[in-house]
Amino acid sequence: MNNLLPSRREVLLSSGGVLVAGSLKGTVDALSQEVTAAKNPHKDLMFRTTDPRNGEPELTKLVNSWQTPTELFYVRSHAPNPEIEVDQFRLSVEGLVRRPGTFSMADLMKMPSHLTTATLTCAGNRRSEYNSKEYQNVPKVSGVQWEAGTIGNATWEGCQLAAILKRVEVLENAKHVWFEGLDQIQKNSSIIGFGGSIPLEKALVDNGPGAPLLAHQMNGQPLTADHGFPLRMVVPGYIGARSVKWLGKIVVSDRPSPNHYVANAYKIVTKTDPLDWAESGPIYRFPINAAICTPKSGSRLSAGAIELTGYALPTGRSHSQIKDLMISADGGRGWTRGKLIGKKQDFCWQLWTANVQVNSKTTELLLRATDSSGGLMPARIPWNAKGYLRNSWYRLPVEVS
Ligand code: MTE
Repeated sequence: MNNLLPSRREVLLSSGGVLVAGSLKGTVDALSQEVTAAKNPHKDLMFRTTDPRNGEPELTKLVNSWQTPTELFYVRSHAPNPEIEVDQFRLSVEGLVRRPGTFSMADLMKMPSHLTTATLTCAGNRRSEYNSKEYQNVPKVSGVQWEAGTIGNATWEGCQLAAILKRVEVLENAKHVWFEGLDQIQKNSSIIGFGGSIPLEKALVDNGPGAPLLAHQMNGQPLTADHGFPLRMVVPGYIGARSVKWLGKIVVSDRPSPNHYVANAYKIVTKTDPLDWAESGPIYRFPINAAICTPKSGSRLSAGAIELTGYALPTGRSHSQIKDLMISADGGRGWTRGKLIGKKQDFCWQLWTANVQVNSKTTELLLRATDSSGGLMPARIPWNAKGYLRNSWYRLPVEVS
């Protein structure tokens, strides 16, 4: 794959992404050859569950590079990876459109291709912290007990969703675009696909790095089975749940998808009261977040200056950049400013380092950040039943002697 694609391309720079035009003949064959490798990916992750596959990297490895290697990119799946034959694969596009249709991988690869770098993060990132002693007299939050590793920054390549929607001609009363995955999830007594949904306005973005992509490549290689082979959505700025993997169907509608993962899950709710669920809208954009990745939680440190590294993710909107990144070693009385390092790019995380003095009284390091679009990490956030969007100050316990 690697040696096939670049030589065939005429690469043109567009705002934020790279527009690739020209003949992509042969790439579907190359994709097929990659299937065997993609079925058995080796991942350098800590798997929280293996059936389905749910794993996150050790934080100390995560921030070695701005672009996350696929091996270290978290996996969040609700069912086993479906096995999809590229030759038989068809994406159907229907609903409130003038010309519904189906697209083979060959059709999709003939469309103008875009390359964009974007961070994906799970709404459940840092969920395990909701079960800490900070929250008293509330039910335990169930679900995969994620630490802060369900985040990664990759390059994605594919055609723009806006281009597909232009082909099928969206009708005037359309307001939302639904995505459906080909995985089969056992939910109570039925089998459902994983669904996502985004507002039409976001679906139609066709300039800059915020444009949603139908991606078939990740970090310059065909998607692995874990990451949605052969085709997935990538919706920059939105929680990972909207970037549907193993994409099989797109429906244009006048309302958000009724799929369980839009209508019920991925909402901020505090009770099991159905009214609570009905009143709460789907989560779209991700909020600001940040974590300390080195040293490890619980490290024994010597008093004096220590070096910290980590990531910070600005709110998922255009031109939002990390502004202040502050660390405290004394419970929040004094704060030291961190240094932003590496690339600064829309819809991507920002890596940082900091040099902080610790002493024998230091029991934890605190991290907070703000961004240029008004996002800020609060000291505390209220508990929610599903354990989503945990973005309060990051607290790293340490021992200092
Ligand atoms: N798409 C399908 N079809 N099935 C899934 O289980 N999980 C979603 C999303 N897309 C999911 C899916 C969630 S919750 C997240 S956070 C991202 O995929 C994770 O993408 P990754 O596994 O490539 O990191």
